[in-house]
Amino acid sequence: MDRSDAAPFRQLIDSEPAVLRAGAEAALDHVAGLGDRGAGVSAGALVALENFDEPLPDEPGDGSATLTMLAEVGGPATMASPGTDYFGFVNGGTLPVALGAAFVTAAWDQNGALPMMSPVAARLHRVTRRWLVELLGLPAATEVTFVSGATMANASCLAAARDALAAEAGWDVPADGLLGAPPIEVVVGAGAHTTIGKSLALIGLGRDRVTTVPSDDQGRIEPGALGELDLPDDRPVIVCAQAGEVNTGAFDPFVELVDWCRSRRSAWLHVDGAFGLWALADPGRADLVAGLTGADSWATDGHKWLNVSYDCGLAMVARPGALRRTFTASAGYLPPATGPGDTDSPFETPFEAPFEAMHHTPQSSQRARQIEVWAVLRTLGRSGVAELVRRACDSAGVLAEHLDGAGFEVLNDVVLNQVLVRWGDGRTTEALIDAVERDGRLWCGPTQWDGETAMRLSVSSWRTSPDTARRAAQVLVELAEGVGR
Ligand SMILES: Cc1ncc(COP(=O)(O)O)c(C=O)c1O
Repeated sequence: MDRSDAAPFRQLIDSEPAVLRAGAEAALDHVAGLGDRGAGVSAGALVALENFDEPLPDEPGDGSATLTMLAEVGGPATMASPGTDYFGFVNGGTLPVALGAAFVTAAWDQNGALPMMSPVAARLHRVTRRWLVELLGLPAATEVTFVSGATMANASCLAAARDALAAEAGWDVPADGLLGAPPIEVVVGAGAHTTIGKSLALIGLGRDRVTTVPSDDQGRIEPGALGELDLPDDRPVIVCAQAGEVNTGAFDPFVELVDWCRSRRSAWLHVDGAFGLWALADPGRADLVAGLTGADSWATDGHKWLNVSYDCGLAMVARPGALRRTFTASAGYLPPATGPGDTDSPFETPFEAPFEAMHHTPQSSQRARQIEVWAVLRTLGRSGVAELVRRACDSAGVLAEHLDGAGFEVLNDVVLNQVLVRWGDGRTTEALIDAVERDGRLWCGPTQWDGETAMRLSVSSWRTSPDTARRAAQVLVELAEGVGR
């Protein structure tokens, strides 16, 4: 008997169109309902999650019914982060074309690891790399890889940096490991994002084995701070800078950092630009981003400000071959790695070679994340991405202005999409954040700033506009007046 005709599998085949339709309809209904609900989750929706605590079924069931349950019980317990009024963390929304591309890509079920597993993924990788390099003004030879998020992008770039600097000192880290390797100094700003520490820990350079240089009141590395360092001239050094401090959105002084790194015998400047890197796409922000493209590597996210779905991080490295040195893998069943930097490549220019993602990233099998990024870039174009950035920054400006006018203390220079405020002191700010959560119309979270609680608003969804931001600010003022100071 053909096992594919056994009852459960026959049923899976027969119900496939209905199940897919149920999934697509649930998705459409959810998105259509975003405008009619608050940003938070009601107490009732949280209680209803208990419905998921069922025994594991013994027998196959109806896939459409499973999706209906998912939508009915799960949907209301989602944060409306793709909506207009969610300002928590730095969580972007999803552009319609990104979501559509995600549907198609999921249906294709392509393994983006190698061109032979997905020719379309490899070709769209090549196009997307070229477009990103143009859009952001990065050096022409920059390699772009897609990983799960900015944390892994930071770790991937820093691993490539570690191995490149060790190679300059005559040591092969991928082959011989770090024990006995020549020392590499790591310099971080006091305002570095926590994922830099996590990345350094992951790649064996150590979270605490770093030299921390002071940051100013916006979390920027202090001008002149690197010049004060007393490092032996021949010591390789990785400098971890950032474009977009997670509370304030501030940028490090890149012109100076680039100059300092270039003055050293062996140095690598890495930039964590999880959201801020997209400022490069807006010609109006040239002052803010000055020097940024002179770094050696950049980490950013697609799932934050570019508004593609999770999980999409981008690790970008200006030195050809560096990612491959770190991440290449070989096995009898795999084709030998080729790519940028190959001298014996049959391709005239390095980037004509089909991109082998698994030899340039920590993963082997991988989602073809570039497809959503390609879809967004093709649909928005250069000016559309610039407008995505501007719209969020303008909305942040409206929030700040309105809140300032209502007696909030705005704690940051609003140079990007982040607004940091306090209502009264830390205690009354906490009370306001609780009130916002209970109210449910908006969502914004706490942070610690200057040793006290502050409230952080990040404008990262394409749906938020200066008008919706004004309305959100009015809600915040109303709730703040209820809390008092
Ligand atoms: C500056 C910065 N770096 C890194 C990250 C980590 O990004 P992800 O959560 O995508 O790994 C974030 C997240 O907000 C961030 O703001």
